[in-house]
Amino acid sequence: MKEGKDTGSLHSGKLRSSFSGKVGYVLAVAGSAVGLGNIWRFPYLAAKYGGGIFLLVYLILMLTFGYALIISETAIGRMTKRSPVGAFGAFGKSFPFRFGGWVNAVIPMLIVPYYSVIGGWVVKYLFEYLRGSTEALAEDDYFSGFISNGVSAEIWFLLFSLMVVAVLFAGVKQGVERVSKVMMPLLVILAVFVAGYSMTRPGAWEGVKYFLIPNLDNFSWMTVVAAMGQMFYSLSIAMGILYTYGSYIKKDVDIEKSTGQVEIFDTAIAMLAGLMIIPAVFAFSGGDPDTLKAGPSLMFITIPKVFASMGFGTGAGIMFFLLVLLAALTSAISLAESGVSTFEDQLGWNRHKATLLMGAIIVLFGSASALGFGVLDFVSVLGMTILDFFDFLTNSLMMPIAEIEQSSDFKRKKMYCFFMKFLAPVCIVIILLSSIASVFGWISM
Ligand code: PFF
Repeated sequence: MKEGKDTGSLHSGKLRSSFSGKVGYVLAVAGSAVGLGNIWRFPYLAAKYGGGIFLLVYLILMLTFGYALIISETAIGRMTKRSPVGAFGAFGKSFPFRFGGWVNAVIPMLIVPYYSVIGGWVVKYLFEYLRGSTEALAEDDYFSGFISNGVSAEIWFLLFSLMVVAVLFAGVKQGVERVSKVMMPLLVILAVFVAGYSMTRPGAWEGVKYFLIPNLDNFSWMTVVAAMGQMFYSLSIAMGILYTYGSYIKKDVDIEKSTGQVEIFDTAIAMLAGLMIIPAVFAFSGGDPDTLKAGPSLMFITIPKVFASMGFGTGAGIMFFLLVLLAALTSAISLAESGVSTFEDQLGWNRHKATLLMGAIIVLFGSASALGFGVLDFVSVLGMTILDFFDFLTNSLMMPIAEIEQSSDFKRKKMYCFFMKFLAPVCIVIILLSSIASVFGWISM
């Protein structure tokens, strides 16, 4: 389909792409929000930072602060009908606006390559479960052996990236929206199934209680910092995405209502992911604190062990990794769409040319990240692997900076003004400082 046929506002003589309606828009934003952040990151943070108390802090932050931030980014996108650089530019041409716009535009371009590397790992695991390699996946060195094998990691990464680029080529309505409409309902069904399976394993109930019931003894300062960082990550805030998707909606979409729906979707999937993973880990290890604190490797190392030790492990593995794949795909698509839209707006390019450039960026930076565990493992930036460095650069440095830039420009109701003007800058500086402190080993996150 030719993008020019999409109805939308006129910009630089071209018709702007748009979603066909409210449902498509809500599912596309939910598709962006629900990603690896929900299924991979949220459960390992919740397991590590106190279970129920982490969940409570997260919910409070999301309903107040997160809500205000999503609304503002979406409204600015719709008002200006521009991706982030143009959206910021509409408020002023001075340096802070230009800088803020570009930081927001560049973040998703740097995230999507390494995100696609992890997406590639997910495709590989799904493929292996489909082949019935359940036992092999549960072996101690399987994961490290796989990621350090350059050729294999690169091929699975390229496969995932190809899927993302293909959807972008198809356009906003025919690609992004259509894929979200099919994948999101399927994802919910799979999530309910896997969570049900996990919660009914013998010994799992203790895990359900740990995850849902707040216990003040488990509260620490890091609970708040980790929950706040997760909120930004999970809601796709400060990534240029919400401006971009906001710029594709018409005036009749109720931003407040759709934001509420997106938050419910995002939180429901994160909670289901918590209910899939934490009870399964309890059933497997009896709530052993070391297993609970496994961190990022929880999904690729601990979970395969858990599945291999249970009945129907192969079926559970297939469903679980299919679910993760759908979530990762719709999120990667949104990150890359933000980049494509920036190239269209700023360079005046057509969609296909902009998509090709985004594809080239993904392959270039993503290959460096994929190979960073293998042939390029001698490269270390600030003591981090290439993939970890991109994650640190975008999520811990650029993202807080991008939010501070925009924090006081858009005024609405009282709560909104309070969060944006006073609380937002303080909280974001805290995230920034703690991320830096953790990289230098001053604190442990
Ligand atoms: N919100 C999505 C997720 O939780 O996975 C996508 C995403 C956005 C991931 C921004 C990472 C990120 F930094």
